[in-house]
Amino acid sequence: MRTWHCEWPRENCGTRYSALFTSTIGSGALCLALGLATMTTSAYGIEMRPFGETEDGTAVEEYTLTNENGISVGFITYGGIVTSINVPDRDGNTDNVVLGFDNLEDYRTKNPYFGTITGRYANRIGGASFMLDGETYTLAANNGPNSLHGGETGFDKQVWNAREVETDEGEALELAYVSPDGEEGYPGTLDVTVVYTLTNDDELRVDYTATTDKPTVVNLTSHSYFNLGGEGTGTILDHELMLNASRYTPVDETLIPTGELAEVAGTPFDFREATVIGERVRENHQQIVYGRGYDHNWVLDRPDDDSLVLAARLHDPESGRIMEIETTEPGIQFYSGNFLDATLVGTSGNIYRQSDGLALETQHFPDSPNKPDFPSTVLRPGETYETTTVHRFLTDGS
Ligand code: BGC
Repeated sequence: MRTWHCEWPRENCGTRYSALFTSTIGSGALCLALGLATMTTSAYGIEMRPFGETEDGTAVEEYTLTNENGISVGFITYGGIVTSINVPDRDGNTDNVVLGFDNLEDYRTKNPYFGTITGRYANRIGGASFMLDGETYTLAANNGPNSLHGGETGFDKQVWNAREVETDEGEALELAYVSPDGEEGYPGTLDVTVVYTLTNDDELRVDYTATTDKPTVVNLTSHSYFNLGGEGTGTILDHELMLNASRYTPVDETLIPTGELAEVAGTPFDFREATVIGERVRENHQQIVYGRGYDHNWVLDRPDDDSLVLAARLHDPESGRIMEIETTEPGIQFYSGNFLDATLVGTSGNIYRQSDGLALETQHFPDSPNKPDFPSTVLRPGETYETTTVHRFLTDGS
């Protein structure tokens, strides 16, 4: 079975979506017969194709946004998962730089959060419980004694409603989900939207908003695993990373922050100058041992406001690709893919071994609901949760 994407000139079809035809043979002829002008997988605009069904028969779609420079980002309505980010290297060769699968079944059954929208609370809540306004809320303990990434059925496993939105910056789609009061133990009906915008300046911008009808806690992130050399091509330990952070939050052996904001100076956690990731990842430092590598939250050096600030810069010296991350968030989780263990077969058919991808998750700090000194993650009725993270793609040749 072969899938062909046939892009109409917009003025002819009156829609911004391309048509998709699936056929064993003769698909090209079908496109021609319909008088379509071009046949391509990377035309400027938005494409949509079916991506299977969930167990209860809910249809899942994959959308692809392509900008004027030919950069494209794919994502599916299941979990809002980013399935591909196709960007050129310094010689103009395009590769997909995020880990993932080529089918819904694997995303449903074995996904270690590749590309997901992660919530209602990204990362861990210690002891799988928290207290808010004098009430104790109990969550699913799905990671040792702790709750990870929103519990058993977090936002990464929900089917989101997609709709196109108008922006001046580029192609954009909004994903919406209403999380019922009590879902996964969290109080309050949470109305969530996530807008993915692919700008013509080669940025993937992610805007999150949420409102609630009862006091609750919220922490949303996007959980792509990046490999700037291309998905399935090997390790990220040779990438250089800069993190704009003088402090990080050390953890206990279950990866819950101790509450301390520790200085990175003189430790393997100092990425204020761009450093090769593999250089210190085998150091016998207690925190590296707890994480089996890097799996920590860095406290960004930023003003206490909602401005977009440079958080991270990732560079693959081999391909020349660079990704810069700006965020309104106070923290970033750098996870060096420590739990990848060669059991998953990725999008292009290669297996993923330890450190074949890394996550840089902008966020509030883990376990904030139990850490009164950390920036608050409480959302109350009448307030709007609003955060933005921008991923900018460039090369060292540009
Ligand atoms: C966590 C890791 C976890 C990974 C995949 C990261 O955000 O910090 O501990 O293994 O997500 O779930």
